[in-house]
Amino acid sequence: MYLSPEEEAIYQGERGETLRRMMEILVALGDIYGAERLVPVRSVQIAGVSYKNIGDAGLEWISDLEGQVAVPSILNPAGMDLCRWREMGIDAQFAEKQQQTIEAYRKLGVSIDCTCTPYQIYDSLARLGDHLAWSESSAVSYANSVIGACTNREGGPSALAAALVGKTALYGYHLDENRLPTCLVEVETDLRGADYGALGFLAGRIVKDGVPFFRLAGRPSRDELKALGAAMAASGSVALYYVQDATPEPPTPWQAEERITLGRKEIDEVYAKYPGSGAEVVALGCPHCSGQELEEIAGLLQGHKVQKELWVCTARKIAEENADLVAAIEKSGARVFCDTCMVVSPATEGFARMMTSSGKALVYLPGLAGVKAGFGSLKECIDVALGRR
Ligand code: F3S
Repeated sequence: MYLSPEEEAIYQGERGETLRRMMEILVALGDIYGAERLVPVRSVQIAGVSYKNIGDAGLEWISDLEGQVAVPSILNPAGMDLCRWREMGIDAQFAEKQQQTIEAYRKLGVSIDCTCTPYQIYDSLARLGDHLAWSESSAVSYANSVIGACTNREGGPSALAAALVGKTALYGYHLDENRLPTCLVEVETDLRGADYGALGFLAGRIVKDGVPFFRLAGRPSRDELKALGAAMAASGSVALYYVQDATPEPPTPWQAEERITLGRKEIDEVYAKYPGSGAEVVALGCPHCSGQELEEIAGLLQGHKVQKELWVCTARKIAEENADLVAAIEKSGARVFCDTCMVVSPATEGFARMMTSSGKALVYLPGLAGVKAGFGSLKECIDVALGRR
């Protein structure tokens, strides 16, 4: 891979050991994937934040690094609400390790907004055509597809390397030739809300790591696109998709190699296969809720008291900007947790059965949190929490 004289100097260790190690990671990845050179990135989103996932080895690795990030960099959700962890049932030892992890990132200049939806809080992190180095699969999907920026799905170390160097290796979704649709997905039914999670759940399984181009009956909202991409990234490993008239266009004309048709019958089968009955806890906000989603939840809960645990996950900044909605939701007995989520926190492991409106959580809860998952619309989830179902 070609390195500029400045990059070569970093690679040779002339700017310190941390940058040398980071450049080594970028060059190794570039060599593996045949990158010609590095490319500057506008921003970085770093996974590998929950102490549940990184453990002592990860914490030690991050704590060892020195210097400051070269571009705006933001964290993925941590293993707990950084303020209300006791309410989540997190033990003090875990909390201490999690705080140390956050401090290690803070020391490097990383922004301590722990969220998988950085695009909901900072417009400036990603714009059409930008190169990024983002980690979390739903954020990667959203950045590539809805914003029209370019990012591969970075691992924690490679994202941190990109953050400290300010560049990433130019391969994969950074190149137009890899951004062309591989299949056409036609959906012959109107979709709403969690239907998009169900569609993503189905499409990801079929498309795997391909690039689907959707022709839908209606026009999805940004939250619905967020749900679609998140589910596809989990049930398959889709990092880029298109929706006709709703997302930026493919870079050049293309021809579908494959054509898939999905309808109401298939969508309804997802709901039927994963009923929410018997759930001890309902978890919403995967990916993290937007202000609009908080408003919808507050509306459905208004005047009611929950009979079961209802957890709503969002970014701290979104919660602060919507303090009235958070208060309205919590008045019902539900809890709005920030900085974390039901999948990356060990708090959910204490439950046997959880209900969610997220196609992504439906995939990950059993494997990553050991919790059986039910799936339903937002209204059905709230009904379960209120003891109506
Ligand atoms: Fe975000 Fe956690 Fe879901 S990181 S996408 S809320 S699994």
